[in-house]
Amino acid sequence: MAKTPLSILITGANRGIGLGLVKSLLASNPQPHHVIATSRNLGVDGSKELENLAAKEPRLSILQLNVANSATFSTVVKAVDELVKENGLNVLLNNAGITVKKRLEDLTADDMAQAFITNTIGPLMLTQSFLPLLKRAASHASDKPLGWQRAAVINMSTILASISSNNSGGLYPYRSSKTALNAITKSLSVDIVKDGIITCSVHPGWVQTDMGGPNAPVTIEDSVKGMLKLFAKLDYNSNGGFFQYDGSVMNW
Ligand SMILES: NC(=O)c1ccc[n+]([C@@H]2O[C@H](COP(=O)([O-])OP(=O)(O)OC[C@H]3O[C@@H](n4cnc5c(N)ncnc54)[C@H](OP(=O)(O)O)[C@@H]3O)[C@@H](O)[C@H]2O)c1
Repeated sequence: MAKTPLSILITGANRGIGLGLVKSLLASNPQPHHVIATSRNLGVDGSKELENLAAKEPRLSILQLNVANSATFSTVVKAVDELVKENGLNVLLNNAGITVKKRLEDLTADDMAQAFITNTIGPLMLTQSFLPLLKRAASHASDKPLGWQRAAVINMSTILASISSNNSGGLYPYRSSKTALNAITKSLSVDIVKDGIITCSVHPGWVQTDMGGPNAPVTIEDSVKGMLKLFAKLDYNSNGGFFQYDGSVMNW
């Protein structure tokens, strides 16, 4: 039987990899009690598929969340608290992300700031906001070993965050904001493991989404299938790690 957490929140879940994760989790056995999918815009075409899914899936809840607007995080935490109650939130999956494709010559300070606000600062501040609910989950499931069934923060990184694998340069906003996200993963793994929460970064592969483009070799389904298998195996030894969707270890 697959190991699934009781509750999981996924940011940027209205399309791409985030939506793929939501669909697979709802198809898993056992199903999580709460799959909480967030989207920065609700009631628009870009969220229609997710909203249609929620209309027929009682275990799927949708909340509005712009990860670049930390002033709204407490409202989202309150809504999640009301859903998960004494069980807390088992998994926070920081998936929402953006690329800013600019040549070095055209890059602006604002391009860098936008990437960092969404890809780095958003996930960190959201994790900080959800800490009480993650701690509650870890304590409520203290009979379980460290892992995503107990409590986990999973940060969606990329191979492009790997400094040692960077042989092609460029992509300053995306690479550096995701490398900083990896640094956050590492610090969280040191700081919150004592609370029963593990943290890791994952590279989903080069995936066929709006971001990955049509030439990407990996389908959303294969990426998600691999990641869910990886997440179910996370343990003390994986804490602070950087993994690819197929379970292999990535270079920092
Ligand atoms: N695809 C790949 O090959 C690949 C490779 C490595 C890593 N990744 C990472 O995987 C994650 C998902 O990527 P993807 O390929 O699924 O990308 P995608 O198809 O472009 O989807 C990105 C998602 O993030 C959301 N998002 C962006 N900014 C947001 C914000 N401020 N607040 C809330 N949501 C926001 C988007 O929402 P809207 O619809 O509102 O824009 C969308 O739901 C990203 O972190 C990306 O860096 C992807």
